[in-house]
Amino acid sequence: MSDVFDKPLLDAQSLHKHFPVGKAPGPFARAPNTWFGRADRPVPKLHAVDDVTFTLAKGETLGLVGESGCGKSTLVRLLTRLLDLTDGSIRLDGAEIGHLPARGFGSSSYRPRIQMVFQDAGDSLNPRFTAFAAIADPIRRLKPLPREQLWARVEALATMCGLPLELLGRFPHQLSGGQKARVGIARAIAVEPDLLILDEPTAALDVSVQVVILQLLNDLKTRLGMSYLFVSHDLNVVRLLCDRVMVMYLGKIVESGPAEEVFRNPSHPYTRALLSAIPHFMPGQAAPRLRIAGEPRSPIDPSPKVCRFYGRCPQARVACEQSMPLLQGVGQEHSADHSVACHFPITANAAREVA
Ligand SMILES: Nc1ncnc2c1ncn2[C@@H]1O[C@H](COP(=O)(O)OP(=O)(O)O)[C@@H](O)[C@H]1O
Ligand code: SF4
Ligand SMILES: [Mg+2]
Repeated sequence: MSDVFDKPLLDAQSLHKHFPVGKAPGPFARAPNTWFGRADRPVPKLHAVDDVTFTLAKGETLGLVGESGCGKSTLVRLLTRLLDLTDGSIRLDGAEIGHLPARGFGSSSYRPRIQMVFQDAGDSLNPRFTAFAAIADPIRRLKPLPREQLWARVEALATMCGLPLELLGRFPHQLSGGQKARVGIARAIAVEPDLLILDEPTAALDVSVQVVILQLLNDLKTRLGMSYLFVSHDLNVVRLLCDRVMVMYLGKIVESGPAEEVFRNPSHPYTRALLSAIPHFMPGQAAPRLRIAGEPRSPIDPSPKVCRFYGRCPQARVACEQSMPLLQGVGQEHSADHSVACHFPITANAAREVA
């Protein structure tokens, strides 16, 4: 499937986002155990996103999975240019947008091309805006239309997203969860983005509504030819919707590849543990659950030499605390664009033995 997506729409190279945490020593602070000399210890930094590189092709759906706190939302906020990068490059259709300050990005000509669907439509919608005003808002700001055309456009968007037109005059508190989600999606596609970033778009919805909204998102993608970056902790959904998947752990991508391939032959011990936790609906198909012991390492000034999964990894050996594993091709037996960051990746045969 990947040869269809030959030209990258988004090219993210070596993205870093480090948040300062705690205080820098004051101007009169002394170095520890001395009466002289100023403490010049740097401010500790939380490495929320650490050297993340990937591409996203036109028309592709890329899934991003990983446990809470691993950096998914920070990565999304970097890509949507709500946050400034600490370092790295983001190219949209070849144009560098990573260096544009987040503060001014709202008025940049690139803004309409990347839009976002938020986790909780209820929280992200302005309570003082009717559904009509919420959908019209990005059009007014980014691609203004004359009044009559605006009405027609908002109605067309509502219809496309399955929102009955009689609900356009309602405020968020007068809409159900599914209806709010439809408003959030209509709003996101209103300015015809090339890339839609969806941060856990159905996490706040009932299961039955989730299915309908996912179906809607899938239909819209085909109809409008958008690319999706789909963030989810629901691996079943990622498997169904995504062409490729990236697995994130403590700020780093630890495995990436075609979704079917990664789900069939997970090579990173963390991916295997994540996948073993998926509930299987067919009796007899369930693989034994791999539980990860211990706590994640601290994301504050982590050692650049120690694998981030070290300490929790059942496969760990001495080499894992001596050098950081880099993301590289898994090997001939797997698909060419399947990569893993592990010194001792699990091969298909070894995986069968372990299971
Ligand atoms: N503004 C911030 N200041 C300091 N730390 C932050 C900030 N935003 C996120 N973090 C930290 O960055 C890490 C990743 O957070 P986040 O991107 O929200 O993860 P996820 O979306 O995967 O749950 C967490 O340790 C979180 O506490
Ligand atoms: S490099 Fe070592 S500690 Fe890290 S995931 Fe691989 S086996 Fe586990
Ligand atoms: Mg998040």
